[in-house]
Amino acid sequence: MSNNSNTASQDQFANKSQAWSARFSEPVSDLVKRYTASVSFDKRLALYDIQGSLAHAAMLATVGVITDADLADIRRGMDQVIVEIQNEQFEWLLDLEDVHLNIEKRLVELIGDAGKRLHTGRSRNDQVATDIRLWLRAEIDTAIDLLNQLRRALATLALEHAATIMPGFTHLQVAQPVTFGHHLLAYAEMFGRDAERLVDCRKRVNRLPLGAAALAGTSFPIDREQVATLLGFDDVCRNSLDAVSDRDFAIEFCAASALIMTHISRLSEELVLWVSPRIGFIDIADRFCTGSSIMPQKKNPDVPELARGKTGRVNGHLIALLTLMKGQPLAYNKDNQEDKEGLFDAADTIRDTLTIFVDMVSGITVKADAMREAALQGFATATDLADYLVKKGLPFRDAHETVALAVRRCEEKGCDLADLSLSELQAFHASIEDDIFAVLTLEGSVSARKHIGGTAPERVRIEAQRILDTP
Ligand code: ARG
Repeated sequence: MSNNSNTASQDQFANKSQAWSARFSEPVSDLVKRYTASVSFDKRLALYDIQGSLAHAAMLATVGVITDADLADIRRGMDQVIVEIQNEQFEWLLDLEDVHLNIEKRLVELIGDAGKRLHTGRSRNDQVATDIRLWLRAEIDTAIDLLNQLRRALATLALEHAATIMPGFTHLQVAQPVTFGHHLLAYAEMFGRDAERLVDCRKRVNRLPLGAAALAGTSFPIDREQVATLLGFDDVCRNSLDAVSDRDFAIEFCAASALIMTHISRLSEELVLWVSPRIGFIDIADRFCTGSSIMPQKKNPDVPELARGKTGRVNGHLIALLTLMKGQPLAYNKDNQEDKEGLFDAADTIRDTLTIFVDMVSGITVKADAMREAALQGFATATDLADYLVKKGLPFRDAHETVALAVRRCEEKGCDLADLSLSELQAFHASIEDDIFAVLTLEGSVSARKHIGGTAPERVRIEAQRILDTP
């Protein structure tokens, strides 16, 4: 189709300030234009928008709604549009409201009538839903990959510190000795579930809305399955009203992101505590810290603190999207344009945070002596003494009581359980023999817990290796 034969109608579209303006007698104010436009943020969907358009056009040509020549023109025009966007030469116009109309208008400028035929059997309503799903699918794949990298970084450090002993805490009080490797692998578990959640969420993201058109489908003989295949979707959305209107898939992603950030935030809180000179269990590399402008001695763990803080914005995006959806009647409403900025920000936040954490975890230096020192305080092996007495035949509750008396004695003397002599211990229970000292050591305590899920070095090595061996 030659461009010249279409100049008149082409100009008609190009000169109008808005694509629908034939029906309107009065222009919108600049403020309303800015208020209703989305191009400033949805232009980041541009390449997905074009990908969707090319698949739609290919299908229209297959079913005979447009000609092969139209399709060739559309492909040629879109190639040019892609170049302009990638070279940042593309002129984004607020007057054209959003990414879809901006690209369509430029296409029409470049190729004429074929460009105007592209929108046959389609609406921006199914178009935008498709764009977001294509974009989100790619973000999910990136996030899953980053979560797996983070798990591997944690497992690598865990393997190195499978036998490094630290105090395990409950209520932030020394409870029982654990290995640092075991502690790290707790986070690997959390991030593993986060990845599973994204894998599951992806299944519902990866369905094709195109073909729903504005809300009711289209009278053209479209082949939605062909479009789905071209775009790599697993399935097509089965109801046109639902396809254009629901954003539950985006809400699911935000919920999964909020949990990722929750886990990141818990880890951050520990990193902040551990690097505090008061605790001093680890050091994180200087590139993740800053100094103080007034106190020269300080090295502040800015990155974990900020990550902990950024959890709030992702939680906020989840609530914003839920609230956005809850009052909407079927089908598409302009409210849905508000889905994007929060969703984009959630994806950006988890991408940047996870990328930084992979590097930060790999750069942790462990101060094993400080960990050990802390584990030796607070009667961390008291439970082991109770378990020992149970194995000698005492009911657990009696053993618990006996050990409480022993702990009280230690407090009076200012010593640890392992510092009591055999005769002092035997005064609490006659069944105690000198094999008790192996039990009361930190090493004895952790190595005894070698069952699945336990803190023993041998178990930590198995679990860390399992993660490292996962492709
Ligand atoms: N910019 C719009 C959005 O993000 C595209 C869909 C517009 N549809 C409409 N009927 N106004 O949702």
